[in-house]
Amino acid sequence: MTLRERAVGLTEIMDDPACDPVRLAATYRRFGAVNRLVSGWGTVYRARLAPLLRGLGRPARVLDLGSGGGDLLVRLDRLATRDGLDVQWTGADPDPRAHEAALRRPASPRIRFVQSDSTALLAAGERFDAVVSNHVLHHLSPEALAGFARDSLDLATGSVLHADIERGRLAYGLYAAGVLPLAPGTFLHTDGLRSIRRSYRVDELAAALGDAWRVDRPAPFRVLATGAGRA
Ligand SMILES: C[S@@+](CC[C@H](N)C(=O)[O-])C[C@H]1O[C@@H](n2cnc3c(N)ncnc32)[C@H](O)[C@@H]1O
Repeated sequence: MTLRERAVGLTEIMDDPACDPVRLAATYRRFGAVNRLVSGWGTVYRARLAPLLRGLGRPARVLDLGSGGGDLLVRLDRLATRDGLDVQWTGADPDPRAHEAALRRPASPRIRFVQSDSTALLAAGERFDAVVSNHVLHHLSPEALAGFARDSLDLATGSVLHADIERGRLAYGLYAAGVLPLAPGTFLHTDGLRSIRRSYRVDELAAALGDAWRVDRPAPFRVLATGAGRA
């Protein structure tokens, strides 16, 4: 096994519509703990998202594209509420299994989950002050990545922030050992390692996304693609 190149031929178990629904539901539930440990969103919120929301000087609308089990929005809502920011959050995911998992989270009056993809949201006339995503980019084919990136810019009037894992030996080794206590009954071990093998390095993501994007490393083992919305 080499990590020199993206393992684009690898498929994650959770991307198989016929995968075990019990293990999948457990995987969505436990994403919250994994994302808290590895996603770097505390840093991205403080350095990139909160200043944008604060600067609006009015209630904000933020979209999480490919929201999966919904844990990122729950976390961002807690952080923003603590900071006195007034934000309405939308989590969108076309996968019915993800949508159901998100709806099982305790309800917040500031968060809504919709079963929709980026193109349908755009066609419905939805627009947001900011668009974010977590762990979506590495799942997508080149064509789907181009469409996802384009839609996200067209949905946003402010910044677009797409966060993902960065492929690397250390990330792979640390994740393989660190996820073991959280993995029983889920796809977290197999899919997490496949995710790392499928994921981009900073320069690869910059090349894949093109000129409209700036790609950097906001935290160890993380990539962040930032774009200026054009809605
Ligand atoms: C691995 S999940 C990530 C879930 C969640 N963001 C997290 O960090 O745990 C990737 C999700 O992206 C969704 N997705 C793929 N293409 C999309 C699109 N064009 N618009 C919205 N969601 C999309 C998939 O349905 C899938 O649930």
